[in-house]
Amino acid sequence: MKFLMVLFAVLGTVICAPLPEAAPEIAVSSGATVDGKGETKTDTYMDNADANKDGQLSIDELLEASGSFLPFDVIIDAFKMADKDTDSYLKGEEVGAALEEAHLLATMEIAKVTAADDTDENGKISGEEAKNATDIMTNPEHFEEDFATADADKDGELSGAEIITFIVLQQSKRLSGDNDAFLKPADNDGDNKVNLEEVTTAVKGYTPKAVIEEAFHQADANNDGFLDAAEHLLYKQLEGSLIAAAFNTSFVEVDEDMDGLLNLSDTLKLAESLQIDGIDGAFVSTYFDLASRSEATLIDQQEAVEFLTTGKTGIPQLFEEFDKDASKTINSDEASAMAVELALDAEPFKAAFAAVDKDANGELSPFELRAALVDYDQKSAATAAEASA
Ligand SMILES: *[C@@H]1O[C@H](CO)[C@@H](O)[C@H](O)[C@H]1NC(C)=O
Ligand SMILES: *[C@@H]1O[C@H](CO)[C@@H](O)[C@H](O)[C@H]1NC(C)=O
Ligand SMILES: *[C@@H]1O[C@H](CO)[C@@H](O)[C@H](O)[C@H]1NC(C)=O
Repeated sequence: MKFLMVLFAVLGTVICAPLPEAAPEIAVSSGATVDGKGETKTDTYMDNADANKDGQLSIDELLEASGSFLPFDVIIDAFKMADKDTDSYLKGEEVGAALEEAHLLATMEIAKVTAADDTDENGKISGEEAKNATDIMTNPEHFEEDFATADADKDGELSGAEIITFIVLQQSKRLSGDNDAFLKPADNDGDNKVNLEEVTTAVKGYTPKAVIEEAFHQADANNDGFLDAAEHLLYKQLEGSLIAAAFNTSFVEVDEDMDGLLNLSDTLKLAESLQIDGIDGAFVSTYFDLASRSEATLIDQQEAVEFLTTGKTGIPQLFEEFDKDASKTINSDEASAMAVELALDAEPFKAAFAAVDKDANGELSPFELRAALVDYDQKSAATAAEASA
């Protein structure tokens, strides 16, 4: 079930690592590659990228040309580093410098990913390793096809530039093609751009206030107060790493005994400090039991991140929709309505309800509802397996 997958979604952590010995050749636009030896020729790249043929490159032109070859933050950072005279255009030697910088940043990214995700330390990322790697697997729905496409030498693993291809594919199929998926839900007035207010509304329940503002500010490359498609993709990416950083800072502050674990009252303080729209004290108190993956009453940082940034999805979302009497429990009538809406088989779902309702009071707490859905899922998977055997 999709909402359970969302419930268990995790954010990647950022780890720094040394450069690998041999720098790989990396594609920076169609037909243009950089090998990291400081001899980059820019003719082919300029042919591709300089859309208005004014002999210089704006950040938008760079994003258009390289958006399906390099991660967005690599493009933006390379642009900033190379734009020495800070006139917001790359010209002459700045173009080659930007491509060299992009190569260096992409190579560092490969090293970082390999250090973090290559658990068997063979220098490559296998399919299983990639599936566990929440820093690069950002689009589970397209995992199989993106992994297969990125695996250029078809050895079943990703290494070198293949890792960059995978990251970019997962981020967005193509700059313009994925535009809709990112932009449409947030874009209230249909102008194909989003302002800070629209972004704030779109991420309600997920993102600390300060992170929204910082990511917006950084992503708005041309400072016009709006994010266009390319900038919005960059926003999404920045948001992820800034959320990780914000949790890092706030977690340490509330974890007074510094054991890396938070109880309910610590978590209330964490929520207060992060200011995530909709994730207030009442929310934390009601759903805290869901925060731990086990039955523990203390949660670690990863669990805190998951709990507070996916707060509006999964079980809380079901409560919002089906707990009509706002009792913070689901009674059997409410459960029946939910079964109909989610197209669950009535009888097995009733059985799951009864099985978890240990005190037989006819009401399920959020924690019990989750257990009931897990129980239902497991039993129906088993039944389906039997039927097909
Ligand atoms: C993936 O994660 C699971 C659960 O933590 C672990 O058991 C498994 O060994 C990991 N697989 C790889 C290839 O790292
Ligand atoms: C968060 O903290 C961990 C452990 O201290 C560190 O490795 C990681 O780089 C930090 N992440 C961010 C985004 O600051
Ligand atoms: C929660 O943990 C903090 C230390 O992090 C401790 O001071 C506090 O007493 C605990 N609260 C409860 C209700 O256990």
